[in-house]
Amino acid sequence: MRLIVGNWKMNLNPGEASLLVKRLEDKIKPDPKTEIVICPPFIDLYPIAKDLDRGKLKLGSQNIHYLDEGPFTGEISPAMLKGLADYAIIGHSERRAMGEDDKLIAKKMAAAIRNDITPVLCVGETLAERQHGLAKKVIVDQLTADLTQLTATDVAKIVVAYEPVWSINHGDGNIVHAKPEDITFAYTTIRTLLEELYGEEGVSGLRLLYGGSADPGHCRAYLEMPYVDGLLVGGASLNYEDFAKIVKVAQGLK
Ligand code: PGA
Repeated sequence: MRLIVGNWKMNLNPGEASLLVKRLEDKIKPDPKTEIVICPPFIDLYPIAKDLDRGKLKLGSQNIHYLDEGPFTGEISPAMLKGLADYAIIGHSERRAMGEDDKLIAKKMAAAIRNDITPVLCVGETLAERQHGLAKKVIVDQLTADLTQLTATDVAKIVVAYEPVWSINHGDGNIVHAKPEDITFAYTTIRTLLEELYGEEGVSGLRLLYGGSADPGHCRAYLEMPYVDGLLVGGASLNYEDFAKIVKVAQGLK
């Protein structure tokens, strides 16, 4: 099943979030072949969930803690999100840049699986790593370390998003769109590694997303690529017309 995930990042208060959801629900048509997930800030999840049309949209969180409860001021656990969020973004490069390392990410991946939340694991190299020819090594190292606590059965359930950090829109007006060959190389690396580590079972249900400045003008080229199961959309998911256009392109594909 195709998957389009909107990552709202640190934007929209509950009132603004509800308005965006209403507008999206008006624009989006349900389609059994395309799953659409929005990942609002934690504070918006509960009010949105109350009257969400789950035939059209599902909810995800942008992060989780690796334990189910405890004295961790300011944190939200996967157990608290159970029944509210079906997905959780884990290991986003913006969190890695704030100090989240692969050891912590591995624990979060296990916590998501333990709580029946589908993790969307983000991997990808920075511009400097790419320029030094390290892209493949970074992807392999991140994936290997991030999945250490999972079995092949677990890995078959996860979503991996390849998000080259150099193509993510950092709001500085400097937008770089990845080329299909950049993505093909990353996907080959990811699939080959997971097959090596977890066998055929590990890749049996695996879904691969692309993320980085995906917008209505570029989404078709990405979505039509072999092995691309969907997109992780940041900035464009905050604009209901743009996000609905991306969803429409995805739903129109064979
Ligand atoms: P962007 O963000 O689409 O705004 O580049 C993608 C992401 O960071 O997940």
